[in-house]
Amino acid sequence: MCGIVGYVGTPGVRSHNALEMVVSGLRRLEYRGYDSAGVALVADAQLWTEKRAGKISNLVEALGGQEVPVSHTGIGHTRWATHGGPTDRNAHPHVSSDSRVAIIHNGIIENFAELREELRETGVVLTSETDSEVAAHLVAAVLPEVDGDLAEALRQVSRRLEGAFTLVAVDADRPDVIVGARRNSPLVVGIGENEAFLASDVAAFIEHTREAIELGQDQVVEVRATGVTVTDFAGNPAEVTPYTIDWDAAAAEKGGYDLFMLKEIAEQPRAVADTLRGRVGRDGRLALDDMRISDAEFREVRKIIVVACGTAFHAGLVAKYAIEHWTRIPCEVELASEFRYRDPIVDARTLVIAVSQSGETMDTLMAMRYAREQGARVLAICNTVGSTMPRESDAVLYTNAGPEIAVASTKAFLTQIVAAYLVGLYLAQVRGNMFGDEIRAIERELEEMPNRVDLVLDTVEGVRALARELADATSVLFIGRHVGFPVALEGALKLKELAYMHAEGFAAGELKHGPIALIEDGVPVVVVMPPKGGRQSLHGKILSNIQEVRARGARTIVIAEEGDESVVPFADHVIRIPPTPTLMQPLVATVPLQVFACEMATARGLDVDQPRNLAKSVTVE
Ligand code: F6R
Repeated sequence: MCGIVGYVGTPGVRSHNALEMVVSGLRRLEYRGYDSAGVALVADAQLWTEKRAGKISNLVEALGGQEVPVSHTGIGHTRWATHGGPTDRNAHPHVSSDSRVAIIHNGIIENFAELREELRETGVVLTSETDSEVAAHLVAAVLPEVDGDLAEALRQVSRRLEGAFTLVAVDADRPDVIVGARRNSPLVVGIGENEAFLASDVAAFIEHTREAIELGQDQVVEVRATGVTVTDFAGNPAEVTPYTIDWDAAAAEKGGYDLFMLKEIAEQPRAVADTLRGRVGRDGRLALDDMRISDAEFREVRKIIVVACGTAFHAGLVAKYAIEHWTRIPCEVELASEFRYRDPIVDARTLVIAVSQSGETMDTLMAMRYAREQGARVLAICNTVGSTMPRESDAVLYTNAGPEIAVASTKAFLTQIVAAYLVGLYLAQVRGNMFGDEIRAIERELEEMPNRVDLVLDTVEGVRALARELADATSVLFIGRHVGFPVALEGALKLKELAYMHAEGFAAGELKHGPIALIEDGVPVVVVMPPKGGRQSLHGKILSNIQEVRARGARTIVIAEEGDESVVPFADHVIRIPPTPTLMQPLVATVPLQVFACEMATARGLDVDQPRNLAKSVTVE
């Protein structure tokens, strides 16, 4: 949510052109927000800024028509609007009234109204409707009191701000430095050769350096081409842990695909394999990453709560079936944004599993912090190494899916399910709920899944054709039972966010309690059919549900395993998936639904990778 880039290079080095570095970084961060974009450069002891509503292409077009000064220090921002609409005026950077300080911001400054008032009383004229602009004026006001020390000014201002913020500032009088402050929203430093970067995400600078430092909570960083100084908000030196980013620039490129989403759908077999890789030790026992929870503590767990949002929440819903089945521990799955507002029952024997692709989703972060305060142990299932959730958890299981750039989550979903299953099996192992050979059998089933997902990908052409055929539909319903229910929810979410179409997922048994009234002639209903060889009662029941909707005019699209002929008489379209045990089925049944939504959005002429009103990493509550 909002992409931030800062760059500082060495004067005289031609390749150290701040504008190019900042704009290329912004392009890579555009998935974080695309309501407006802007840059500020420090050149000849002046600030030079340009900003435009809309996508980065608008900014680039505006830059094209101008003589931009040569500069080796600059900042840039791509916005997901919170306070104030997506206009040129509200775009970042915001500049102080004396035109000396420019600031970019990600997050929400909650006490901005009183700060605006205070500034107004001192005669400052605010030119935007944003919460962010106050920071520029406040820093400019403090600078003379601290001998022009930009880092100290930012520390003092940060101490006054409430809410979540990453701020990056430049000062016209200090062309050799950029300064950043971080509370709750991500900020990472990239250390290059005689140049350095500051960004909300490593994707911004991965083509220039893989050496990075993740900033901690309430820290301020002063970045020069020659080095980096980090302190806390009080000015005390802070320890930093540099790390090397283990993926390369190509992973954040489209790699020959038209869309990031298509690439990420295609990457799923490899992503699932990578989530599993290295998790089974030579002795056949499971080993998880960064495990700071002892087996004795795992044995004491009496309740599990999964907290997550959106697609990750759906992954949690799937995992619940497996975790309860394997461990016999009650498992609740809670929308992270609701969790801490309902006085949940959490104690030291509660294991909270926070599931998140980005590791930065504010709702999930706040839920897990709350759970920790109540004494719970928190395990993060996360895709982004170095992000906030893993750092603040007692244990981490990385999904290793590689960067997910398309706003709609695909490979994250499959790998989150696999990771949550590994946690379930680990618990079953240490608590002795299952015999070793039972666990091994499930591991082997999981190891089969990359091949099965591959088989599904080989056969999705028919799904594409169907999506094009249904592109004018006004509503699509999805039904499933057991693990097929969260798959139905996920299919509906994908369609809503990408095709801007009314879509809803239901537990098939619930239809008759109300939603069946939505069925009228020709309404497409997508049915996730459980495996035939699974629980017979489940299969038979949903077969009846298909007939119920068909009798009322629905156009039925049935996802069923190869060889399940029982569905054919009641299906207008059958989408085949390979036979798979029930608990593994979401890993194959979701894939056609991802393809369906992607193709539907394309057929409707929509921007699949950057759907309207959304952003990839939701760092506000
Ligand atoms: C949907 C989607 C979102 C995210 C949700 C959580 O396609 O991408 O619903 O799943 O915002 O994000 P993370 O997993 O980063 O916490």
